[in-house]
Amino acid sequence: MLKVKGVKKSYKKGGLFSTERQEVLKDVSFECENGVCLGIIGESGSGKSTLGRLMLGIEKPDHGSILFNGKEVENREVRLGNISAVFQDYKSSINPFFTVEEAIMEPLIIKNKNKKENQSKIDQLLYRVGLNPSYRNKYPHELSGGEAQRVGIARAISAEPTCLLLDEAISSLDISVQTQVLNLLKELKNIYNMSFIFITHDIQAAAYICDRVIIFKDGKIEEIVEIEQLKNVQSDYAKQLLQSLITF
Ligand SMILES: Nc1ncnc2c1ncn2[C@@H]1O[C@H](COP(=O)(O)OP(=O)(O)OP(=O)(O)O)[C@@H](O)[C@H]1O
Ligand SMILES: [Mg+2]
Repeated sequence: MLKVKGVKKSYKKGGLFSTERQEVLKDVSFECENGVCLGIIGESGSGKSTLGRLMLGIEKPDHGSILFNGKEVENREVRLGNISAVFQDYKSSINPFFTVEEAIMEPLIIKNKNKKENQSKIDQLLYRVGLNPSYRNKYPHELSGGEAQRVGIARAISAEPTCLLLDEAISSLDISVQTQVLNLLKELKNIYNMSFIFITHDIQAAAYICDRVIIFKDGKIEEIVEIEQLKNVQSDYAKQLLQSLITF
């Protein structure tokens, strides 16, 4: 269970000597139970990625707390093996000198020092994300964007985290690969009972994979809606956001 309680975050605005601050997150609270896929949608600059970074413990909130199974995610031990993430451009965020095998091995070795066991696990993981075992010796520059993203997902799930945060993780992929990755995530959710935090601009993708969606605006939660109720959102902003999707 992930619990976000009264979280506030601001950044310094303007130049080095400026004292003005921009409030990016304004008292955000919500929960995500185990095994649930929670979408976060909202316009650019509304604070979604900032919220994501706080949930990963990369940054600390100014106020409030973020708890994973009752413990602060700020503590590395709480996150280790429990919470992992995939960002938009996996290719630029991995070490260019690491092969696919080395990239996936890195989080695995923390949990289990047995190299042989880990190697057979890498084969299984590559299979899971639809990549041939021969990919284990490739370097990032030898992968297509979609392949690199799938390696990113394999790495993120290798230690079987209970919670996976995806920040625009599939946005750069073409539709067929997006569908493939979304189906893979659905499958993983069933196998490992994982929970997902799915940050996206793509309401259609969110509707496909999420159980519940947070509509985020200007650093605040505008509305939280169960996916079956997406058609019946209340706030004007949410209605506007969803209007583009006539198919609903
Ligand atoms: N480290 C930082 N220092 C200063 N300002 C920041 C920092 N990180 C984010 N911001 C500001 O906080 C606001 C929210 O940014 P954030 O990246 O969280 O938005 P977002 O909802 O993820 O947008 P997008 O959909 O474009 O990815 C923006 O105005 C941004 O400029
Ligand atoms: Mg963002």
